[in-house]
Amino acid sequence: MDCIDAIQGRRSIRRYKSLPVERKLIEKLLQITQMSPSAGNRQARDFVVVFDTAVKEKLAEAALSQEFIAEAPCVVVFCANIERSSARYGTRGELYALQDATIAAATFQIAAHTLGLGTCWVGAFDDEAVSDILHLPEKVIPVAIMPLGYPDEKPPVYGRIDVKKLMHLDTW
Ligand SMILES: Cc1cc2nc3c(=O)[nH]c(=O)nc-3n(C[C@H](O)[C@H](O)[C@H](O)COP(=O)(O)O)c2cc1C
Repeated sequence: MDCIDAIQGRRSIRRYKSLPVERKLIEKLLQITQMSPSAGNRQARDFVVVFDTAVKEKLAEAALSQEFIAEAPCVVVFCANIERSSARYGTRGELYALQDATIAAATFQIAAHTLGLGTCWVGAFDDEAVSDILHLPEKVIPVAIMPLGYPDEKPPVYGRIDVKKLMHLDTW
């Protein structure tokens, strides 16, 4: 599958086959993810990989009871490591860390799809609750909860705004 096919073929997957996702495969996906760019190559992101059923259930509850999170064989929580970026960039480091984590999550979704796995970006969650559940250090912020599993649905393509309405030439 080439990169453009992967981008065009990815969908948010919220139903998963009851097949395990091997830890080795997740490590491989995260190694690919790590090739994403980052500000000053600080890689101000961390990944919390959750297999534990009780932890997954708590995450689902913290994400406004989106139960499909608990039903995925694995959940990866992408975190911005403000500490790592701010050490070099001061207050600007906060924005960079958020971007470092966000681009990693996006790369992960495409890489997972390429390897036959499905993901769904979950952004609706209680930040403090997720930080507590995962014991995140003070300057580490959860950015995206990403359930991962073998797809058990084929969602339709949701429409996109015509790019002509979004593209501004030279100035807004
Ligand atoms: C920042 C962000 C937050 C999102 N939050 C949620 C969420 O909390 N729950 C959910 O089911 N999907 C969530 N999504 C997935 C979107 O609903 C989905 O990407 C969008 O409807 C387009 O569908 P597609 O991914 O299949 O192309 C989120 C996506 C992004 C990028």
